[in-house]
Amino acid sequence: MSTVPSSTPWWHTAVIYQIYPRSFADGNDDGIGDIPGIRSRLPYLRDLGVDAIWVNPWYRSPMADGGYDVADHRDIDPIFGTLADAEHLINDAHALGLRVLIDVVPNHGSDAHPWFVAALVAAPGSPERDRFLFRDGRGSDGEQPPNDWISAFGGSAWTRTTTADGLPGQWFLHLFAPEQPDFNWDNPEVRADFEAILRFWFDRGVDGLRVDAAAALAKAPGLPDAGFGPGDGFAAITWVDSPLWDLDGVHEIYRSWRSLADGYPGEKIFVGEVPVNGSQRLARYLRPDELHTAFNLDYLKSPWDAKALHSAITETLDGLRAVGAPATWVLSNHDETRHVTRYGRPDTAVYPPGQQPLHQQVDLELGTRRARAAILLMLALPGSCYLYQGEELGLWEVEDLPEKVLQDPTWKRSGHTIRGRDGCRVPLPWSGTRPPFGFARGGAAAWLPQPGAWSDFTVEAQSGDPDSMLELYRTALRLRREHPGFAGRVLHWQPAPDGVLVIDRDHGLRCVANLSEQAYPCPGRLLLSSRPVRDGALPVDATAWIEIDTSGGAWPAS
Ligand code: GLC
Ligand code: CA
Repeated sequence: MSTVPSSTPWWHTAVIYQIYPRSFADGNDDGIGDIPGIRSRLPYLRDLGVDAIWVNPWYRSPMADGGYDVADHRDIDPIFGTLADAEHLINDAHALGLRVLIDVVPNHGSDAHPWFVAALVAAPGSPERDRFLFRDGRGSDGEQPPNDWISAFGGSAWTRTTTADGLPGQWFLHLFAPEQPDFNWDNPEVRADFEAILRFWFDRGVDGLRVDAAAALAKAPGLPDAGFGPGDGFAAITWVDSPLWDLDGVHEIYRSWRSLADGYPGEKIFVGEVPVNGSQRLARYLRPDELHTAFNLDYLKSPWDAKALHSAITETLDGLRAVGAPATWVLSNHDETRHVTRYGRPDTAVYPPGQQPLHQQVDLELGTRRARAAILLMLALPGSCYLYQGEELGLWEVEDLPEKVLQDPTWKRSGHTIRGRDGCRVPLPWSGTRPPFGFARGGAAAWLPQPGAWSDFTVEAQSGDPDSMLELYRTALRLRREHPGFAGRVLHWQPAPDGVLVIDRDHGLRCVANLSEQAYPCPGRLLLSSRPVRDGALPVDATAWIEIDTSGGAWPAS
C-alpha cells in the first residue's frame, strides 16, 4: 500500500524503469528485443517494485542512431512489432499498475522521413525545404558549410546534398548524425505535426513523454557561427549564449505542449533531456507552465565523492525550489557508461565523449560495492528516480565488444576513435547459463554479444539470493513505497565528518552514506544496508537506511 498522500502527483515520487527496447527482451527470436518481449516481462517489473516504464524510441526508423532517427512517429518499427502491440503493452502495463512513458524526438527526423525525402527533390527555397534547415554553402562554389556548427557525433553539423543532375547542392543541418536532419521549428507545419503526435500517443493512453534533445529545437536567427575551433567537442553543458543550444525560443514550444497535456485527465507529463549550463538554466524549462521534470544529468555525472554528491544534491534542490518542480535522480542511461564500471575506475567522473582518460583499470568488485551504496543514497532523496535496465542486475559496461559489431554512429563519425555507447546497450541476461541467457527465448544470438560471465548475473541466478544486487533493489523499492519517511519533498542534512553524508527525511528515516576511508558508527534501527553493518558501524563505500528515535515510535507501528 502506498503511503504517499494522495494529493502528491504520481510523478513527484515515481520510480521509472528505462527500457531500451532492442536490448530488453526478444519475443520473436530474431535476436532483437521487441514489444512482445517487453509485454512478457512486465510482471518482472511490477514485482521489482517500479511505478512506471519509459520505453526508448520504438518508431519506424532506419536505426542510424538506435531509433532516434524517426521516420514516422505514428507507427512502430517492424523490428519491434506493430501499433497494436504498442497499444496492448500500454493496456497490459496499466492493468499491472505501471504507467508508461515513451520518447518524442522533436529536434530532428530521419533521412527516410517522407518530408525529408520530399525536401531533397524540391527546389531551394521551396515549402518542402522550409521544414528543415537547408542553406547555401559558403565559398565561391558553396563548397564550405554554411557555418561552423559541429555535430554531437563528431564532424560538421552540415551535409551537402546532391541535385538531380548529380551536382553539389545546398547543405542541411544535423546536430546529430547526417541521417537525422534538424527540423525548422519556425515552420508552423512542424509545430502542428508534433502537437498531433503528442495527441496521437496521449489518446492511446501514454502517461508521459520524454523529450529528446529538448534544448536544441530553437536556433539563432541567421544561424551565425558559434566560434568553434578545431578539435572542439559537443560540450553543451559548458556553452553560454550559444546560437544552437538553449535559446529562449524553446520555451514557447513547451508552454504550448504543457497546455495540450493539461487538457488530458490523469496528469500526463513531460520529462526533458535538457543538458544545459547549470541548474539555473535548467530550471527555466521547469517553470510551472513548461515541462514537468527533467533528467538530472548533473547528478548522473557526479563522481563517487561525498563533496561532489552533496553539492549536486543541494544545487538540484535549490535550483528547483524557485520554480516548484520536483527533483529527479539517475545514475545510468542508454548514453552513458554503466555506473558499476565508472565507479570501479580510479577516476569516477563522467567525461564528454572522447575525453575519457583511456585504459583505466576497472575494479568491478569495488564498482559493484559503490553501485549498491549509490542506489540506496539515490532512492533516499526526495523526488522521482530513473533506473536503467540491467542496473538492478549489477551489469557492467561491456568494454571489449569486437569492433565489427559496434553500431553507434559515434564510432564511424569519430574515425573509429571513440567506441560510443554500445557497451551499455548489450541485451539483458534473464536465465540459463549460456548466451543469450533467455534474452531470445528460442536461443537466437543477441544483436550484441553478451559476456559469458553474465551467467551469474541473470534474473534467475539472482532471484532469492539475499546478497544479490537484484534482491537489494527489490527490498529497497519495497521499503521506499511502504515507509512514510520517503514521501514529502524535504531533506535535512546532518553534520558529518568528511566523506560521510547523513540525510534525514521525515518519520525518523535517516540515510547514511559512507564514502570515507573508515567505518562510520550509525546507531539506530537498521532497515537496510548495502553492506553488512557490524557492531553498529557502517563499512566504507556503503549506505544504510536506519530509523532513529522519534516521538512517534518505530515504523511500522507495533
Ligand atoms: C539523445 C538520446 C541519444 C540520441 C540523441 C539524438 O541524447 O538520448 O541516444 O543519440 O538524443 O537523438
Ligand atoms: Ca525480436
